Amino acid sequence: MEAAEKEKISVEDEAVDKNIFRDCSKIAFYRRQKQYFSKKSTHQALLDSITASEDSTRFKIINEASKVPLLAEVYGIEGNIFRLKINEATPLKPRYEVPDVLISKLGTVRLISCSGDAGNLVLADGKGNLKCHITANPFKVDLVSEEEVVISINSLGQLYFEHLQIPHKQRAAKENEEDASIDTSQENQEDLGLWEEKCGNFVDVKTNGPASIGLDFCLHGFEHLYGIPQHAESHQLKNTGDEDAYRLYNLDVYGYKIHDKMGIYGSIPYLLAHKLGRTIGIFWLNASETLVEINTEPAVEYTQTQMGPVAAKQKVRSRTHVHWMSESGIIDVFLLTGPTPSDIFKQYSHLTGTQAMPPLFSLGYHQCRWNYEDEQDVKAVDAGFDEHDIPYDVMWLDIEHTEGKRYFTWDKKRFPNPKRMQELLRSKKRKLVVISDPHIKIDPDYSVYTMAKEQGFFVKNREGGDFEGVCWPGLSSYLDFTNPKVREWYSSLFAFPVYQGSTDILFIWNDMNEPSVFRGPEQTMQKNAIHHGNWEHRELHNIYGFYQQMATAEGLIKRSKGKERPFVLTRSFFAGSQKYGAVWTGDNTAEWSYLKISIPMLLTLSITGISFCGADVGGFIGNPETELLVRWYQAGAYQPFFRGHATMNTKRREPWLFGEEHTRLIREAIRERYALLPYWYSLFYHAHVASQPVMRPLWIEFPDELEIFGIEDEYMLGSALLVHPVTEPKVTMVDVFLPGSNEVWYDSKTFAHWEGGCTVKIPVALDTIPVFQRGGSVVPMKTTVGKSTGWMANSPYGLRVALSTKGSAVGELYLDDGHSFQYLHQTQFLHRKFSFCSSVLINSSADQRGHYPSKCVVEEILVLGLRKEPSSVTTHSSDGKDQPVAFTYCAKTSTLSLKKLSLNIGTDWEVHIK
Ligand code: GLC
Repeated sequence: MEAAEKEKISVEDEAVDKNIFRDCSKIAFYRRQKQYFSKKSTHQALLDSITASEDSTRFKIINEASKVPLLAEVYGIEGNIFRLKINEATPLKPRYEVPDVLISKLGTVRLISCSGDAGNLVLADGKGNLKCHITANPFKVDLVSEEEVVISINSLGQLYFEHLQIPHKQRAAKENEEDASIDTSQENQEDLGLWEEKCGNFVDVKTNGPASIGLDFCLHGFEHLYGIPQHAESHQLKNTGDEDAYRLYNLDVYGYKIHDKMGIYGSIPYLLAHKLGRTIGIFWLNASETLVEINTEPAVEYTQTQMGPVAAKQKVRSRTHVHWMSESGIIDVFLLTGPTPSDIFKQYSHLTGTQAMPPLFSLGYHQCRWNYEDEQDVKAVDAGFDEHDIPYDVMWLDIEHTEGKRYFTWDKKRFPNPKRMQELLRSKKRKLVVISDPHIKIDPDYSVYTMAKEQGFFVKNREGGDFEGVCWPGLSSYLDFTNPKVREWYSSLFAFPVYQGSTDILFIWNDMNEPSVFRGPEQTMQKNAIHHGNWEHRELHNIYGFYQQMATAEGLIKRSKGKERPFVLTRSFFAGSQKYGAVWTGDNTAEWSYLKISIPMLLTLSITGISFCGADVGGFIGNPETELLVRWYQAGAYQPFFRGHATMNTKRREPWLFGEEHTRLIREAIRERYALLPYWYSLFYHAHVASQPVMRPLWIEFPDELEIFGIEDEYMLGSALLVHPVTEPKVTMVDVFLPGSNEVWYDSKTFAHWEGGCTVKIPVALDTIPVFQRGGSVVPMKTTVGKSTGWMANSPYGLRVALSTKGSAVGELYLDDGHSFQYLHQTQFLHRKFSFCSSVLINSSADQRGHYPSKCVVEEILVLGLRKEPSSVTTHSSDGKDQPVAFTYCAKTSTLSLKKLSLNIGTDWEVHIK
């Protein structure tokens, strides 16, 4: 075994040892905040200090014990968003404020003081949409909407702010300058980790001392909370009690444990809460280590006895307390007031941007493995797909494709002619993705290293030298992507002349960007490493990976001179990463429980902005039994990012290696994916322009149905398809809940239908993927599936029209060239609308601006739920011509089928059914 390989394996073993990761009790700022609250010291707002500017209202807050003044700023943001910032009024030096996440130019709405005195104050916008009551002592803010208090801030008095201090050694010389807010007595110092904190064998020396912050929010009437990825946990957030907070700290956790609140690869400090009639969001913009406690007090009903002859019943509404704690930075929190789920998605994207429009190929199937060994291997695997008639779009190369894990290079023995290999893939209309990690091998002969070194582009250690840590290549330094100059330089490395052997079909995968540092504290970088601007790593840890993906995406755009859409997959992410590409859930395991948890994990990512997400199909670690592999393909075909991947030392698992029958089943699943690509692409367009997630928990589509708020074994794709993947072995029946008492649902294969609002038992064989189309929807599809998306550009469409109980349906189709930005700059797109009403199906324009010259035709139309056999069907084109068309009608399934049509997708037409 090679030394590097040994290293890798021992590192993996080490990573599996969960003892290197910390739970809350080992995190000093958590302990400090807990200790402080037991003392019950309060804050008071000095409302006579209030000043108002065009944008914001400011006032001071004072801690009654420490007397250190804080400065609060209150903003109204367009779209019914309320922002509260709290910082020290006069910090010793600036505190970190997260840059580059908020999209530029947040429009503010002026909040005007309506009434108040020194004890309280009411601020409201002109329209009365945003209104807040500020109480001075103890400091509290109530956010009011439609005369109802929706959220209260600091009602539990958990506002916490450690002000920056002169280092204790210097301070010891000074007398009587103790911070009264926390106990800094000598014996307590170590336990509280004020200036030093132990993490395993590491000691985190804190030059700036303690700088932690915290605040509580009371969500009135809310019991259902979601969001704050990434955890391998259920979709609905659980009560944490006092000791089991959700941790947001990006970590490389190989084979992470499921049903656990520990931090894994990415963090989005954004939480949603939903109740009947309202959805809200809390976005806590902080990139340092963050902990979130959630505690719900259920509704109670009690009887008032002294209320006259009939005992009156009084109900106390349920409420949930959310307590955010971060290691450093400032309090900068956005409260999104909804009221609908759709409003919440718009409000959040107003702050952080929408999902990037993916190139069409990236919605196809991706074939990955650590590693495809050499060019020959790639060629054989590629040919295997054709031989077995399985569509796929992208071949992936993991770290072994490089010369000794030096990214941007090729292993000369294994890949002597990367361009030739790419030309082969190109000839099949397929793409290549290669990996590029943030660690750079320390090697004076490696030009990426020497260039970065010379320009001072690496993260620094405390002593001012380049930070060094071990990762795949051995000893490495880490690019400081927080520096705009580093990003600019890094993105220039993707230019075709610079990246030798790359072509325009090569795209990028960013991995290990938490960042992963083998044998580092919790397998990551020391918190006191230094970044651009002299910021400590602790301030921005959670946003490091975000910046790498940003730089990579920009590099791919730049190499095409701004013409082509990039594709970049990242493992680590932060709020706003959706703007740069796709995310996957890292190193999962080939077990049924990991297949099952992939659904809630992806739902959580989806509602926090990241529509383009997926989990390794088959499970990365271990060898899936065949049935699991098949079920995983079936589930993955209905999840946004669809990639098979496996770690080294696992058995090969290309789809045709499990016998003919299983090859057929996997082929069918992948083909279903390809047939539905027009629908997927349209959903992504919708995510891109209208902020609505592609994969949706049921509560988003059915926000008034209390009983579904916790469902996570099924979900919606857009508003038309309900998917209930089989995630257990040897089942012959699944219970599918079909929501909506006024709805009707159609089995997408048998066309059998059910009324909504009940659970149905669906028999399943190994070839069944339970997918249901909602009555009232039109789903655009392709009628034939090709070798890859590239082969399907001109292939005909089919429309599956599923009638509602009222006999109507609507749907959309978006299409463009699938790869460039011309949809944006030259309006080179088509956006069509289909509506079925009074027995007429109409294809009309949904957006007049779009003009893309598509030759595609609609070849098939299937109408589900047509109760009566028609006597005739005619098409009516925009030039006034009517044409009768042949049809078949199946009375048993109430299905009308029109075939061999030739209706241009981009022109207006009608189909009349009589
Ligand atoms: C990490 C990634 C995995 C990849 C491996 C080697 O474990 O999560 O997907 O295959 O590194 O690059």
